[in-house]
Amino acid sequence: MFYHNWRDILYVLTRLVRPALVVETGVRGGLSSAYMLSALDHNTRGQLVSIDIGDTSVLPADLEDPEIGWLVPHRLRNRWELRLGDSKSELPSVLGDSTGLFFSDVPNAILRAELATAAARMRPGSIIVTCCPVGSPAEATWNEFADAALTNTSRATRWASEDGRSDLCAGLLGDDGPSGFEV
Ligand SMILES: C[S@@+](CC[C@H](N)C(=O)[O-])C[C@H]1O[C@@H](n2cnc3c(N)ncnc32)[C@H](O)[C@@H]1O
Repeated sequence: MFYHNWRDILYVLTRLVRPALVVETGVRGGLSSAYMLSALDHNTRGQLVSIDIGDTSVLPADLEDPEIGWLVPHRLRNRWELRLGDSKSELPSVLGDSTGLFFSDVPNAILRAELATAAARMRPGSIIVTCCPVGSPAEATWNEFADAALTNTSRATRWASEDGRSDLCAGLLGDDGPSGFEV
């Protein structure tokens, strides 16, 4: 509906994993949320908790009533909890054993802390996805994380979007928790 869309990958992963709980950080208009909620709806199970700091200046300036997540269709909101707050304080209490998929889409400055929290709190085998364009600081953070905490055989398992604006990196958490990856 929007354009060739990397968010399809989030939809497919959510459909395949059938998680009881999906967690994401970085919502803006709510497009990634909508894709994952659509998958949960088709799964007929699971909840999405989305965390955003709530800065509405990231939204289009001509919106009459600017709200984080304004694009999420109302019919999909029954499986959705939107938490407005800093991920540093919100994320630790949300991530846990039932989180099958965590998607981080926040600035690189807080990515590291989020990945460390995820590795400490999620189960081995659960999936972590983030946006890390080739050559970006986020890619370096991701590669370090992959070496320390993921079971991936390559560092950045990635899908690149056709518009070149967003690349997704994904991996499975290993058994060793956050060992060697510190904030
Ligand atoms: C790239 S946008 C998210 C895009 C969205 N996932 C999508 O599919 O369109 C990044 C978001 O991160 C949020 N953000 C920035 N710093 C944050 C923080 N410390 N905690 C939580 N959210 C934060 C911003 O408010 C912004 O909405």
